[in-house]
Amino acid sequence: MTKTHIISHPFVVDSLTHLRDKQTSLSAFRRHSDKICYLLFSEAIQGLDFNTVEIETPLTKIKAKKLADEVIVVPVLRAGLAMLFGAMKLLPKSKIGFVGLERDEKTAQAHEYYWKLPPIKANSVVVITDPMLATGGSILHLLRRVAKKNPKEMRVVSVIAAPEGIEAIRREFPHIEIFTASIDKKLNEVKYIVPGLGDYGDRYFGTD
Ligand code: PRP
Ligand code: URA
Repeated sequence: MTKTHIISHPFVVDSLTHLRDKQTSLSAFRRHSDKICYLLFSEAIQGLDFNTVEIETPLTKIKAKKLADEVIVVPVLRAGLAMLFGAMKLLPKSKIGFVGLERDEKTAQAHEYYWKLPPIKANSVVVITDPMLATGGSILHLLRRVAKKNPKEMRVVSVIAAPEGIEAIRREFPHIEIFTASIDKKLNEVKYIVPGLGDYGDRYFGTD
């Protein structure tokens, strides 16, 4: 069964309020986005597998743990880029794939305009970052293509998720884990998340 983790770290809760507020300036939006994305991503990589290695501290030899899984971070352009910077700080050795998807303003259907992923292997954990999980169409498009390469696991990180999007993912990918700061109330008639925060990409990149 799809598990949705709602991250309730106090900085996540506080930053989400700033992101939702329409008075928040571009610079403050970016600052809170960077903070919330870093914290959400660090939760999303919980439970990865380790190898045991022998290392020497200045005092003695010990057996210690080193991450074994290969993490591939896939930000959904554009807004998913907001989470990439924090992800690269946490996992400097992660591979990065890029997928360009844009929703049609009338139909809300995602259209792919770019696709470039590193090779996906049996030990790859693919972490998809997209701050807004609305209908789920964008993420499902990606999950369907990535699933064909048989990764070890796929995970989704979003700042806000709509119940409709979570349900759509659950129906097709019952084992996916979703990490989010909030499950909001619903989608409106133009498939925007309510209460939401508006268009994440526009607010983060200053294009509205
Ligand atoms: C937004 C958002 C997600 C998508 C979510 O992207 O960043 O990628 O919509 O909607 P869905 O769950 O209904 O597919 P948008 O198409 O506005 O592109 P942008 O990131 O370039 O602004
Ligand atoms: N994309 C956004 O940026 N916001 C929404 O509410 C829905 C899709």
